[in-house]
Amino acid sequence: MADKETIIVIFGVTGDLARRKLIPALYSNYIKGRLPEKLKIVGIGRRDWDDATMVDHAHKSLMEFASSVLEDETWETFKQLFSYALVNLPEPETYQNLKDHLDNIEDGDANRLYYLSIAPQFYGDAIENLGKLDMAREEAGWRRIVIEKPFGYDLETAQSLNKIVHSVFDESQVYRIDHYLGKETAQNILFMRFANTIFEPIWNRSHISNVQVTVAESVDVGTRAGYYDGSGVMRDMIQNHLLQLVSLVAMEPPSSFDADALRNEKVKVLQSIRPVDLQDTVRAQYDGYLDADGVAENSSTPTYAGLKVFIDNWRWKDIPFYLRSGKALHDKTTQVNIQFKRPPNNIFPLAEKEDLSRNLLSICIQPDEGMHLTIQAKIPDEKLAKSVDMEVHYDNAFATDELPDAYERLLLDAINGDAALFIRSDEIESAWRIVDPIIEGWENSSDAPAMQTYEKGSWGPSAAEQLLRKDEHIWRISCLHEDE
Ligand code: BG6
Repeated sequence: MADKETIIVIFGVTGDLARRKLIPALYSNYIKGRLPEKLKIVGIGRRDWDDATMVDHAHKSLMEFASSVLEDETWETFKQLFSYALVNLPEPETYQNLKDHLDNIEDGDANRLYYLSIAPQFYGDAIENLGKLDMAREEAGWRRIVIEKPFGYDLETAQSLNKIVHSVFDESQVYRIDHYLGKETAQNILFMRFANTIFEPIWNRSHISNVQVTVAESVDVGTRAGYYDGSGVMRDMIQNHLLQLVSLVAMEPPSSFDADALRNEKVKVLQSIRPVDLQDTVRAQYDGYLDADGVAENSSTPTYAGLKVFIDNWRWKDIPFYLRSGKALHDKTTQVNIQFKRPPNNIFPLAEKEDLSRNLLSICIQPDEGMHLTIQAKIPDEKLAKSVDMEVHYDNAFATDELPDAYERLLLDAINGDAALFIRSDEIESAWRIVDPIIEGWENSSDAPAMQTYEKGSWGPSAAEQLLRKDEHIWRISCLHEDE
C-alpha cells in the first residue's frame, strides 16, 4: 500500500515564528530529503490571502532566514506544496473553511499535523473547534497537534488547557514544544550520559559537589516588552528551558530511548524537586527595564532569576542545583557546569584559587557547542598544578559549520511520531508546581527577597554571586573561557 499523504497545517502562518523558524526548518528538511514524499503545507491565518500570497510569503521568509541554502530549482518544487486557508481563530464558523480546504486538497486519506503557532489565548478555541468538526479523529490517517510554549500561565491555566486538549486529542497525539530539547547539545546530554561508561558511576552525590545551569542572553526585551512584562523570566525561561535541562542532567537511565520511557524518568526528577526556599532565590531587573516601551509603570517583573534547587532522591539528595537566567547579560551562553568534589587530600600546591582547580565538566549548549572537562595538570618546570581543559567543539569534531536549527529536528520528529523531545502533560504541570510558589512568594510574601537591579552587560546582580558564596561556591563560566 502506498504511503498516505501528510498535510502540515500551520496555524498562524503569517506570524513571526512561522516566518523565522517553521518555514525555513521545513525547507531545510525538504532539501535534505527528509520530509514525506507526499506532502502538502497549508498556511492558516485570518488575512484574506490566496495561495499565491502564501507562496510569496514563504519565499520572503526563506530569502530572509535561509538565503544561504535557498536554491531556485528546489524552490520551484517546494513552493508547490503550499496553499492557504482563512480561519479567524475565535470564530467557529471559519473552521469549516479549513475542513473544506483540506477535503479538497487531500489526495485520499491523509495524515495531518496541526501546528499551533498562534497567541496562547487562542489555543483553546483552535483545539475545541477542531474537535467540533471531528478533525482530531484518526480514522483516515493519523492526527497530531503541536503546541508552542507558553503552555499555561501557571499550574491552574496549564491544567485547564490540558483538559481542553484531552477533550479533543489523546495525549499520544499531542506534541508540546520546548525548543531547547531540539538543540543538538541538549540531546547530547543523554548521549553523553548513557552512551559512555565513564560518567555514570560518578554522576551522583558522592562525587558531584553542585550543578549549575546558566542560560544567559545578551539581548534585552527589545520589542517584546508587551509580552515579556506579563511573563517574566520564571515563566519565560525557568519553567520550561532550565527545568528541562535539569531533568536531562539529573534523570535516571531510562529503559529505552522511547518517548514514554524517557519522559517517565524526566517527570520523576521534576516531581522530586523540593519546594524552593524563597531565601534561596534572587530576582532582579536590568537597569532601564522600567523605561522600555510596553513595560508597566513600577513593574515588578523580573528579567533575571537565580535559584538554588534540591532534588530529593537517592542520587541527588542535598546537592545544590544552581539555576540562573536573565536578559541583557554579558554574553549569550547556555551551559551546564557539573562541579566535582575536591580531592579528599590535596598533596600538590595549586597555581590558582582552589575552587577553580576542581574538576568541572561543562556542557556547552550554545554557542560554540561542545564539552569541556577541566582537569589538573603539572605546570612544566614547576612543582605546581594548574587547571587545563580537554575540549570537544562540534565544528571540529563533526566538521560542521552550522548545526541544524532546533525546529528542524522537532518538526521531523512530530511528523515521524516520535514524541521523545516533546513535553508530556504531567511534565508541564510538575514544572508549574515548582515555579508557581516562587512567583507567588515574590509577589506576596514578606519573606521574599527584595528586587535587585543589575547593569546591562554584567553577569547579573551581586546577590546571585552571594547565593553561591554562602555555600562556598562560585558560578562557573567555562564555555566562554572567562573563568573568574
Ligand atoms: C524563548 C523565550 O522561549 O527562548 C525568549 O521566550 C528567549 O525570551 C528564547 O529569548 C531563547 O532561545 P534561544 O534558542 O535563542 O536560546
